[in-house]
Amino acid sequence: MAKKEKTAWFCSACGAQSTRWEGRCPACGEWNTMVEEKIKEKPSRASSSVRIATSRPMAVSSIEAEAEPRIHMPSEELNRVLGGGLVPGSIVLIGGEPGIGKSTLVLQNLLAIKSKTILYVSGEESATQLKLRADRIGRGSDNCFIVCETSLENIFDHIEAVQPGILVVDSIQTIATDTLESSAGSVSQVRECAAQLLKYAKDSGVPVLLIGHINKEGSLAGPKVLEHIVDAVLQFDGDNHYMYRILRPIKNRFGSTSELGIYEMGQKGLREVKNPSEMLLTAHDQELSGIAIGVTIDGARPFLIETQALVSSAAYGTPQRSVTGFDYKRMNMLLAVLEKRVGFKLGQKDVFLNIAGGLRVNDPALDLAVISAILSSNVDIAIPQSTCFAGEVGLSGEIRPISRIEQRITEAQKLGMETILIPKNNLKGVNVKNLNIRIQEVGKVEEAFRCLFG
Ligand code: TYD
Ligand code: MG
Repeated sequence: MAKKEKTAWFCSACGAQSTRWEGRCPACGEWNTMVEEKIKEKPSRASSSVRIATSRPMAVSSIEAEAEPRIHMPSEELNRVLGGGLVPGSIVLIGGEPGIGKSTLVLQNLLAIKSKTILYVSGEESATQLKLRADRIGRGSDNCFIVCETSLENIFDHIEAVQPGILVVDSIQTIATDTLESSAGSVSQVRECAAQLLKYAKDSGVPVLLIGHINKEGSLAGPKVLEHIVDAVLQFDGDNHYMYRILRPIKNRFGSTSELGIYEMGQKGLREVKNPSEMLLTAHDQELSGIAIGVTIDGARPFLIETQALVSSAAYGTPQRSVTGFDYKRMNMLLAVLEKRVGFKLGQKDVFLNIAGGLRVNDPALDLAVISAILSSNVDIAIPQSTCFAGEVGLSGEIRPISRIEQRITEAQKLGMETILIPKNNLKGVNVKNLNIRIQEVGKVEEAFRCLFG
């Protein structure tokens, strides 16, 4: 009698395993995520008679940690996000939505590395497609080998033949190992393939770059398990309608996760944006109402960003609210504060708010710029272009101190701002003597209003 195939249920969101179907994953609580997959049982280790221990416990002080030189990537932004270059033997996952430019980012960097042999395994595109992309980027390379392959075992054969210095797998969801019967992209396949590649990276010292897709809920590469396996997870984000792309580390065993890399997608691949503020500020010939410049910090970098608001009398009973790039609830909160403190007639106005450049900002320090833009549009008086804002607004209308004020002020000054409005009592211990910018401290929303519009 044929042996019954063994199957198990896996949660496609968190990777949890269960023996039966459940409507709701017992581990992460997501609904409708359990999928059935075939599993092959491995011979258990305990049953094999001989066991040779290959590892040995050591005292921490006796471990020699040579600072291995990192592999310098051609793109400085990528280097910074990686924490100073690619660590040999590490495994890095680059995730993002389809079409955001993951393959472009990786290919563009690797084609420019001359000192290493590179093996680029693509399970998604044909060699011709990859060649076309390389042509578009405007680079060729003799030491970058491309192979279109989806079987993990064959990939290891190619690795044997090429002996790469860096390995790329585009994407982890397209490859599958023969030892499992489930199809490529399933939780068990992704987990197993990643684990084998991890083993290869650790044994050989070759860094591995994995490219992964984001599922429709926006979590990286489907199963969370992948995030635990790899050393670093970089997320490539951006809006399809704007050309800006942001690379941010979600996890990094070898560096900080507060870095940020900004790119611009152009005709010839990705271009690094060295000074984000310049790209985010629009130069206007004349001053317009409803625009306020905020100083925000994303990652470790401060930059200036334009907030635009449009306030008009509501045409219908219920006023309209629309926000892009900023939290909707937070804007409503700010509007309520304005109603209470400055007599802004909330119920009779349509309010539209937009953060320029298609960026999404979560920094609370942008509050002050947001309310200033709204007020400016409401009274139809422009705020001088050389004035910028940084401050969080509290429920009672107080302007609350924010983090890293010094960095923000310095950035504002660097970009030629003449005045900056900041929270009261935020400057403790900060040396502002050498700064060539007028600093105006405000304690309340009313004060900011008076200061701007008299
Ligand atoms: P791609 O790297 O294939 O995205 P992913 O691997 O994340 O799915 O590139 C995505 C888009 O970028 C594609 O729609 C075309 C565009 N693109 C450019 O605008 N300029 C370029 O030079 C290249 C190579 C791509
Ligand atoms: Mg791709």
